[in-house]
Amino acid sequence: MYTQQKHSAFFELSKSYLNNAVGVDDYDKLVDLLQYHEWKYYIDNSPVISDKEYDVLYKKLQAIEEDNPSIVRADSPTQRVSSDVDKNAELIDHLTPMLSLDNSYNLEDLIEFDQQIHKLCQIDPAEKIAYYVEPKLDGGSIALVYENDQLVRAATRGNGVAGENITLNARSLSSVPLSAKFSEYGISSVELRGEAVIHKEVFHKKNKEREALGLEIFANPRNAATGGLRMKDANESRKRGLEVFIFQLAYAVDDQGQDMMETLEGHNKVIEMLGQLGFNIPANSNPVARDIHEVYEHTQRWEKERENYYYEIDGAVIKVNDFILQKKAGSTQHHPRWAIAYKFKAKQATTTLNDVEYQIGKTGAITPVAKVEPVHLAGVTVSSISLHNEEFIKQKDLRIGDKVLIERAGDVIPYIVKSMEELRTGKEEVIVFPTQCPFCSSELHKSEEQAAWRCENTQCKEQNLQRIIYHVSKAAMDIDGFGKSYVEKFSALGWLSDISDVYNLDYEKISALEGFGQKSADNLQKAIDKAKKNPLHRLLNSLSIHHLGKKVSKLIAQNINSAMDLKDWTMEQFVDIKDVGPVVAENVIQWFSIPDNIELLERMASYGVNISQTEADKPRSIKEGAVLLGKTILFTGSLQEMTRKQAQTMAEDNGAKNISAVSSNLDILVVGEKAGSKLKKAVALGTVQILTELEYLELING
Ligand code: IVH
Repeated sequence: MYTQQKHSAFFELSKSYLNNAVGVDDYDKLVDLLQYHEWKYYIDNSPVISDKEYDVLYKKLQAIEEDNPSIVRADSPTQRVSSDVDKNAELIDHLTPMLSLDNSYNLEDLIEFDQQIHKLCQIDPAEKIAYYVEPKLDGGSIALVYENDQLVRAATRGNGVAGENITLNARSLSSVPLSAKFSEYGISSVELRGEAVIHKEVFHKKNKEREALGLEIFANPRNAATGGLRMKDANESRKRGLEVFIFQLAYAVDDQGQDMMETLEGHNKVIEMLGQLGFNIPANSNPVARDIHEVYEHTQRWEKERENYYYEIDGAVIKVNDFILQKKAGSTQHHPRWAIAYKFKAKQATTTLNDVEYQIGKTGAITPVAKVEPVHLAGVTVSSISLHNEEFIKQKDLRIGDKVLIERAGDVIPYIVKSMEELRTGKEEVIVFPTQCPFCSSELHKSEEQAAWRCENTQCKEQNLQRIIYHVSKAAMDIDGFGKSYVEKFSALGWLSDISDVYNLDYEKISALEGFGQKSADNLQKAIDKAKKNPLHRLLNSLSIHHLGKKVSKLIAQNINSAMDLKDWTMEQFVDIKDVGPVVAENVIQWFSIPDNIELLERMASYGVNISQTEADKPRSIKEGAVLLGKTILFTGSLQEMTRKQAQTMAEDNGAKNISAVSSNLDILVVGEKAGSKLKKAVALGTVQILTELEYLELING
């Protein structure tokens, strides 16, 4: 949608507007510029300026608008969020009915569909019909109306004839263009259909946040998306992290009211046009199938891809590509005859809730786990399902003996949707949440803001076991070769009671253990000795203090000389550090107020574990003229010129952020030798800049 020339022009303009004063005469250009950056960020997934720089431009725009309210354009990025909170309830009519889709489940169904199309369109059975195959996104349906290139209305599906007016919410979503140049295609009024979805990673993150806040978690991304579309407050809607994908042109007329659909030839052309106009369209390589057998191959490919796809999909949608044929095939009251959904294997099942067991985590939180009659569900056998917390059990009114409906959506872990009350016999037992720790019998505690009951006994054996497992893990002290099985074994032998014991192991005894020997004992010792020298932030993060993660550990370690300093730290000192909030601060203060914990640290220090600030803990200043400012980067394959750590540090010094997975958020992938699936994925995404090691070094060294 933007030519190379335009990219360069926008880039130059960004630099100029960032560095110079911008006045009212520049208003239109500034709006266009911000629209371009929104498109780069949300649709094209390759931002060319940092979030911070975007904010600077945005603020300049706001300032001009404040001084000149009469010039504010309706499609200005500042008009996305409205504080007007209660206009969303009214119903609006769709320009054409928002139909559903008929379903198919196998090749036979598809062949039948194809034969039906041949008949309806009076085409010789031997002749092939081309179909467009796209993912069936599992979110909330949305209809968008543009008139004279401006977004004027947005609605949910509602009853198919009229839907809820969600214009304000849609306007708050950055993937919904506020204006789009349909006029360039001779269209003056158009209704688009699409789906609002949530990226799987965002969904997990939101659920974690909600769980920590004691809010009900979303059963699946679909519920989170449909709920998100209908929020009363547009700002809340925006915060849900919704993205809108468009997959259908339902209505298009020119300024004389003439139907423009037939001028557009086919569905593939429409999707292309929508992409050009700045809409999000489902990523799809080679979507047109030449006949129904090829359609089937596409559906199988999509079903295989399902788990790797960034959004939930529950099937594929097959559409006759040619609009003239679509028109010939027509529609029923319920669904178009020219399209059909191919549904993937069911991901729901019913089973019996046999029992509830309790697990304890490294911060003492007690998690109830349902033991269910093993059942096969979307490729795995499910026998245990987390029930999260007491409130979850209460809200769902789950009872032992209940028949329950379970679901596994994409990579979402199995989830109990509901108990089937109608199948109760009266013998079901109410689940009584324990008041004492199931492992050490000390009383459980729960603060009002939190969802979980916690065991606060610092000596609780099972809890300490979880802490040790975390402490030695890659994410914490990163002790090479020290896995969960070692921790369990050494604990069972009575050698590990708390994390300090990790540094006081008897290697003679270890070498004498069956399956160990001198060599593995030596290797373990080396790895543990190395971990003793870890930077302070790793140690802080390894203590399993509730809410204290890697990021805040780093921030705190930058500001202290020794872990022991924290004994005397006040709330003010913590929250004075940017990005450290009162909740984590309170947890750290609480941890350091417990004498057992101080003794634990003292013991560790006496075994040689570093508890002081190291060079690696000190704040690093980003180099002047950092070339990777605002970029995300990932290294894959085996690097020849430097270690991964060196490469990552170099990236950070140059303003980049290291991330661990290939997704649309990734800007740069540096590939070493034998790069595998990450490289493939990045190539498939098409938005990631791929560099060899040497190119990376060249980039950094200018
Ligand atoms: S076409 C007239 N294409 O599925 C046909 N629908 O079960 C309109 N959906 O309400 C739908 N992905 O919200 C179409 N690629 C896709 C889709 C899709 C998801 C949803 C849509 C519709 C529902 C029908």
